[in-house]
Amino acid sequence: MTKLNAPIVSPIQFEHLSEALGVGAARPRLSWKVRAERQWRQTSYEIEIKRNSDAPVSYHVESSEQVLVPWPGEPLASRDVAEVRVRVFGSHGARSGWSDPATVEAGLLSPDDWSARPVGPGWAETPGTDRRPGLVRRDFRVGDQILRARLYATAHGVFEAEVNGRRIGDEILAPGWTTYSHRLRYRTYDVTSALREGENTIGAWLGDGWYRGRLGFNGGHHDIYGHDLSFLAQLEIVYADGTRDTIATDETWRASFGPIQLSGLYDGERYDTRDEIPGWSSPGFDDTTWAPVSVAHRAPETLVAPELPPVRCTGELTPTGTTVLPDGTIRLDFGQNIVGRLRLRVDGPAGHVVTVRHAEVLQDGELHTRTLRLAPSVDTLVLDGAGPRVWEPRFTLHGFRYAEIEGWPGGVGEDDVVARVYHTDMERTGWLETSNPLLNRLHNNVLWSMRGNFVDIPTDCPQRDERLGWTGDIQVFAPTASFLYHCAGFLTSWLVDLDNEQLDDGTVPWFVPTIPGGPMWTPPRPAAVWGDAAVLTPWVLYQRFGDRDILARQYRSAKAWVDLVVRLAGPDRLWDSGLQLGDWLDPAAPPDDPAAAQTDKYLVATAYFAWSARHLAATARVLGRSDDERYYADIADQAKEAFVGEYITDDGLMRSDAQTAYALAIVFDLLDDEQRTCAGTRLAELVRKAGNRIATGFAGTPLITDALSSTGHVDVAYDLLLEEECPSWLYMVRQGATTIWERWDSMLPDGSVNPGDMTSFNHYALGAVADWMHRDIGGIAPMAPGYRRVRFAPKPGGGLTYAKASYESPYGPIHSHWRIESGMFHLTVELPTGTTGLVEILGRPAVEIGPGTHTFRSSAPGDGDT
Ligand code: BGC
Repeated sequence: MTKLNAPIVSPIQFEHLSEALGVGAARPRLSWKVRAERQWRQTSYEIEIKRNSDAPVSYHVESSEQVLVPWPGEPLASRDVAEVRVRVFGSHGARSGWSDPATVEAGLLSPDDWSARPVGPGWAETPGTDRRPGLVRRDFRVGDQILRARLYATAHGVFEAEVNGRRIGDEILAPGWTTYSHRLRYRTYDVTSALREGENTIGAWLGDGWYRGRLGFNGGHHDIYGHDLSFLAQLEIVYADGTRDTIATDETWRASFGPIQLSGLYDGERYDTRDEIPGWSSPGFDDTTWAPVSVAHRAPETLVAPELPPVRCTGELTPTGTTVLPDGTIRLDFGQNIVGRLRLRVDGPAGHVVTVRHAEVLQDGELHTRTLRLAPSVDTLVLDGAGPRVWEPRFTLHGFRYAEIEGWPGGVGEDDVVARVYHTDMERTGWLETSNPLLNRLHNNVLWSMRGNFVDIPTDCPQRDERLGWTGDIQVFAPTASFLYHCAGFLTSWLVDLDNEQLDDGTVPWFVPTIPGGPMWTPPRPAAVWGDAAVLTPWVLYQRFGDRDILARQYRSAKAWVDLVVRLAGPDRLWDSGLQLGDWLDPAAPPDDPAAAQTDKYLVATAYFAWSARHLAATARVLGRSDDERYYADIADQAKEAFVGEYITDDGLMRSDAQTAYALAIVFDLLDDEQRTCAGTRLAELVRKAGNRIATGFAGTPLITDALSSTGHVDVAYDLLLEEECPSWLYMVRQGATTIWERWDSMLPDGSVNPGDMTSFNHYALGAVADWMHRDIGGIAPMAPGYRRVRFAPKPGGGLTYAKASYESPYGPIHSHWRIESGMFHLTVELPTGTTGLVEILGRPAVEIGPGTHTFRSSAPGDGDT
């Protein structure tokens, strides 16, 4: 028997978490990656759990599974620490050694674990206004021989904790935005090294955040979740002798104003250095002049551990261009439209004011701020004359490429001004590079729009007085997002809030979390594309991350949505009444009426009805709900039939003879083969007729290249993708875009900004084409949940001479690299252990492959070989 080298197994990952301190799952699911010889297959695994100081226990399981496998042991109890390792057994008797141990620590899993109460400024405030945030603090004594200390903290608002003068953690805007009435995340910090025997102090900076800060358009609303600004924290110290101390927020804490005068997500932050309070969060500080706190209420059962990474600084940019304006104002170009804020190092006399304004674009040589609407995004620093200061706002974020600094004393030195990039700190997993620099820029723009809008929740845009979790946008972008970053935890968390906000009749809100949005958006009304996030986004997470539990968790919500549409559509299965946004931002729609698309909005609605019913049936199949599977499959068939009956004319053309109509019908599998061929041909004709320019909005854009390439029109798909005239993806790039725009013409060909009131330069929705680029240009597509089976079917074209795609899947790295050289097409693909694949090269029979690297050669596709 062939002797194989021992496989190597990675440390265990818990759930979708990169950090497993303070997990909320008592039975965290386990995943690992294996590197082994290509013919090795896992047949069983052994998990060893060493909990607290107990003896290790191991569990042997006959299974080839390695992604999100069930926790084998007794559930974790609150605060439990477990070291977990795995070893795998497989073919040819080859087995791995033990993985390096991975530690998981449970958070506070039961409401009874909490004694802390929300405490905050008790002074008089005028509700519904911008109020000056405060600080809270408390001194406490610590004994000797500390074994471990944990701080469990959250806030009504946003917070930054300090212990003995030291900032705790490196995240910002904690605890993030959830449906606070249902659930409020807390963070767990290891503060063991921050404590010392004797006198200690804990304190927190507080900001209004989403809880009571101004949110929403048309002036928005304050106090959406409450009037109080409160810190809720529990510091638990375990001593070597097993005794414990708990310091929890209560009426003994004290509060004071600090140097922050004003701070809002939209407004920016004003900080007066002269109001700093040296030593306030350290022992020995006299806080007798501070005010007693007021104690608010928080039901402990609503306190939940996070399922996603925190929002952190993930990069810094220095100016690529500096201009000193006639009035001395300094304009900085950071060369990239980001989400973040500036860190300044500046020195000046007491009372000297430095003001920073932000904008995504310039117009007529000026910072263009009209499109920020009622989000001024201005940071102000007042100096104290006590020497150079390093300052960065705490509780705000801006969407910008340009910044203007007024009142900067003297010149800006090296690193005096740095733009710090912030977003949810997910693991990057997907890359694509091609021989076409414009396409690479486009892909980079998609990446930056994802970064800019994945800030604790998936927002539509990061700069104006919106920044809301619009359901339709993430519904169309989720497949792209799932390739670029490990966003399973991020979207899983958001989907819980979607379920929480879903109305009893099944209506899915326009944006999650939901806030008052004026008569147009409040109360939410059911609409296709946006509502379908309830069914389609969980399915994407299942498909892309192999997470079956997300389907079970969201099943009630998904079913409620489809059942509502069944009622709204009525027995003829045509959803042809009520408000619909349809193919939002079709380029033909006038700036002031983005819903006025060429494709009939009810065609869009019925197509999505059939597609969601189809996916709900598939979801029911995965969950073993055979009755539901049959019922929703029938609904899908009936809606499909109704769609064809209503929208396909006898000559095979569509009533809406428009790009989006054909794209929907083709990709949503609503046509028979003959109709499909006809639709593909007509779609290609329409694209050619439009001069290869795009004519789709939010509904058609994610689908049009797939519709073309899957009906034999790869060349037209490439011509559409590579078109540079407006509207097109590369038109944005040619206009200097560094992110994806909300509108195809957010900037008009003459360089002026689109007059539409709703004009952002950082919306990811139109970037949803990247999913096609990953699959059809890069050549990597999932064939089974979690990429356990992969289709390598790159479709070269568009004059590209090579493309490289890489994806760090739950099983390990997947690579696809093709190049065309002297008329030959060369393809190299790589699969990780535990997976299989199918290689489909144009005009050649598909080839089945297993783990390892595989190379293929064939004659390069000639023009017209599509
Ligand atoms: C948002 C979009 C959203 C749309 C729906 C806009 O204001 O920015 O992202 O999808 O409204 O109406």
